[in-house]
Amino acid sequence: MHKQHNEQQFGYFDDKKCEYVITDPHTPTPWINYLGNDGFYGLISNTGGGYCFYRDPKFRRLTRYRYNSVPVDNGGRYFYLKSEGQTWSATGRPVHTELDQYSCHHGMGYSRFKASKNAISSQVTSFIPLDTKAEVHQLELKNDSDTTKSIELFSFIEWCLWNAEDDGANFQRNLSTGEVEVEGSTIYHKTEYRERRNHYAFYSVNHPIDGFETDRETFLGPYRGFENPIAVERGKTANSLARGWSPIASHHIKCELAPGESKTLVFVLGYCEVEAENKWLAPNIINKQPAQTLQAQFDTSEKVTAELAKLHSYWQKLLGKFVVKSPDERFDRALNIWNQYQNMVTFNLSRSASFYESGIGRGMGFRDSNQDTIGFAHMVPEKVKERILDLSATQKTDGSAYHQYQPLTKKGNANIGGNFNDDPMWMVLSTANYIKETGDFSILNEMVIYDGQEQATHNHFDHLERAFNHVVNNLGPHGLPLIGRADWNDCLNLNCFSEDPNESYQTTQRGASDVAESVMIAGQFVLYGQEFVEICKRLGKSELASQCQSHVDKMRSTVDQHGWDGEWYIRAYDANGAKVGSHENAEGKIFIESQGFCAMAGIGSEQGKPLQAMQSVEKLLSTDFGIMLNQPAFTRYSKYMGEISSYPPGYKENAGIFCHNNPWITISEAMLGRSEKAFEYYSKITPAFLQDVQKLHKTEPYVYSQMIAGNDSANPGEAKNSWLTGTAAWNYYAATQYILGIRPDYDGLLIDPCILPSWKSVAITRQFRGATYEIELRNPSGLSKGKVQLSIDGVKIGGNLIDPKRYKGNHTVVAEIMA
Ligand code: GLC
Ligand code: GLC
Repeated sequence: MHKQHNEQQFGYFDDKKCEYVITDPHTPTPWINYLGNDGFYGLISNTGGGYCFYRDPKFRRLTRYRYNSVPVDNGGRYFYLKSEGQTWSATGRPVHTELDQYSCHHGMGYSRFKASKNAISSQVTSFIPLDTKAEVHQLELKNDSDTTKSIELFSFIEWCLWNAEDDGANFQRNLSTGEVEVEGSTIYHKTEYRERRNHYAFYSVNHPIDGFETDRETFLGPYRGFENPIAVERGKTANSLARGWSPIASHHIKCELAPGESKTLVFVLGYCEVEAENKWLAPNIINKQPAQTLQAQFDTSEKVTAELAKLHSYWQKLLGKFVVKSPDERFDRALNIWNQYQNMVTFNLSRSASFYESGIGRGMGFRDSNQDTIGFAHMVPEKVKERILDLSATQKTDGSAYHQYQPLTKKGNANIGGNFNDDPMWMVLSTANYIKETGDFSILNEMVIYDGQEQATHNHFDHLERAFNHVVNNLGPHGLPLIGRADWNDCLNLNCFSEDPNESYQTTQRGASDVAESVMIAGQFVLYGQEFVEICKRLGKSELASQCQSHVDKMRSTVDQHGWDGEWYIRAYDANGAKVGSHENAEGKIFIESQGFCAMAGIGSEQGKPLQAMQSVEKLLSTDFGIMLNQPAFTRYSKYMGEISSYPPGYKENAGIFCHNNPWITISEAMLGRSEKAFEYYSKITPAFLQDVQKLHKTEPYVYSQMIAGNDSANPGEAKNSWLTGTAAWNYYAATQYILGIRPDYDGLLIDPCILPSWKSVAITRQFRGATYEIELRNPSGLSKGKVQLSIDGVKIGGNLIDPKRYKGNHTVVAEIMA
């Protein structure tokens, strides 16, 4: 534990419990956690703010949350406590009363809030039990004094009217639709159930109540906020039944606690679906059976404790699949706990719902979701397989992809469409990575529909082949891949030419789409195209393999010829055929993406190009807080560049540190054997290494953020957009597969480390295809990289590959790095 505090610090890691403990409720931004991992999800801040939803944060939102509201973080699961004339909140907000003690413990799938005021202590434990469509909030109250205390408790949540976008906009309708029922201690939210919906929600408590409120204005009182509801002030509820307006759920419970006495209540916030024929018990009376079944699962604190224990062991098992013990505990806690945890969250939610992603805009991204799998395939490979096939099913017959799809329908999102020309090849990465992890080539034989088809006529391999050919069929004047609307960089919009502030940068086409080219996609094609060739060979498709090889080789030489600027790789050619990311440009002379992808692909390695590109990155893009996306920043808007030049210098894609792409440089450095550089770039953006700058950094100090302000900004080092970022999967992949070099390959587990010379020994536990390996990397000569001598169970073997066919159960591996 690291309890030492300075004014930069708002909390500390408790590695034993896999928790981050926040000790000051006034964090620079709300610091959140995610509950749930299989369809039902909750976002919960360090003061109980946030919301929950079932599968789709736009269409099935249960509780209301006000983004970018004042004060920030408005709406959540609130518990008002009142005793001896004083009122406070068990989670630190919304009541303004300062607590005598406060801590929020964000753990793996749960959050716990400890508070105390006037010798009454409380503990709220919030989680979503495994396989359950409900949030459970267990509240324990304890009288720490030596006199009897009377306590009044008011729970509070506000319902969202299901469609979160409509909920925040269509007031002429939605202020008339709200409907509730109350039975016993359960408040049912049945808005729109009477018409087309087959689902309702409820909020219940396992204790008799002294009153309730379901109408927000009755609870709050006119012109009041969440911080001082009139019902709480009066200590009285009116048992209001909401008819339209804004339905809420608040339970009122009075209790008396003798000295030292405690009391535990269990609140359940659940979601139920009912088949059409069983929807009603009587006219307008909903069938409560499913809700009662759900409540019965958690109606005692023993049951809740047992469910929590199941959740703990679920996570212990998952995190046990890869464990590292290095000389640097920051490295270990990042990889062993928080990075893997974030990988699960990004895998589940793509870029849909966070405190920066409102859950109504973006669905599951094709490129993002494919990349997210590379940090998760070792944890739950079955889910990765399913996800890859879902993505594959949104592909179009020409090999292109819908940029996004909705999780509820699994259909491509027509508003955004396709033509982001990097999209298709990410599916080769995700598929290859999945096969290397599991050895399961059968994924290639799965029959998968193309967008809009009723029945699948082709297998997943065919989808990959079309992804490959989509690049081959869409080359520009230099023979480089056409960029389309954008490549990985959504904001480099070379075909858009927008001068109208009311239109989209990505989807407004003005330039001819057959001119602008991307060197980044070229590098991606060489790297993952080569992977596709390998897959073809392994399937015995040698003719196809050699055809594809010639396309890859050709692309390699095209980049050599048209993609090299002299000291780094060019970024693109614009719609006029002019270079982007060249010393010839006044602004945006160098970009990170093509350096990363072309170096990882080893393009021009005979002439030392990857190394030279890395030296240019170091000289021109590297900062104390990570590597900037481009330099110099664009200072003026250019319609030929698009959204990138719309951002003030130093933010987002305009010379911000866009963390997602930093690992590409880390990997390139590791491939070149430069371990110190690799480790430096890895650690600069990794939160576990940034505990001394929490105040500057602003976002959660336990997860990656999408963007850190660059040197051109007013506040370099300030982060934004935490949690849902490709940085999580990529930095994990870089650290485990390229720094530690524990790298799954088709035939087994490769051991190919590039570690700091000062690291003499690193221990790793790795589960792989049914066996568990206790690996020790030994580095007696203090090398960055070298030849690896493997011994397995004391027996020396040639090469650096562990062949899984030979091992089951537990094995000891010593990997000595030698000159
Ligand atoms: C966001 C998008 C991602 C894109 C990146 C760079 O993170 O989700 O798809 O690659 O921005 O523009
Ligand atoms: C990505 C970029 C963001 C851009 C958006 C457009 O998320 O990071 O800057 O506005 O894509 O779709």
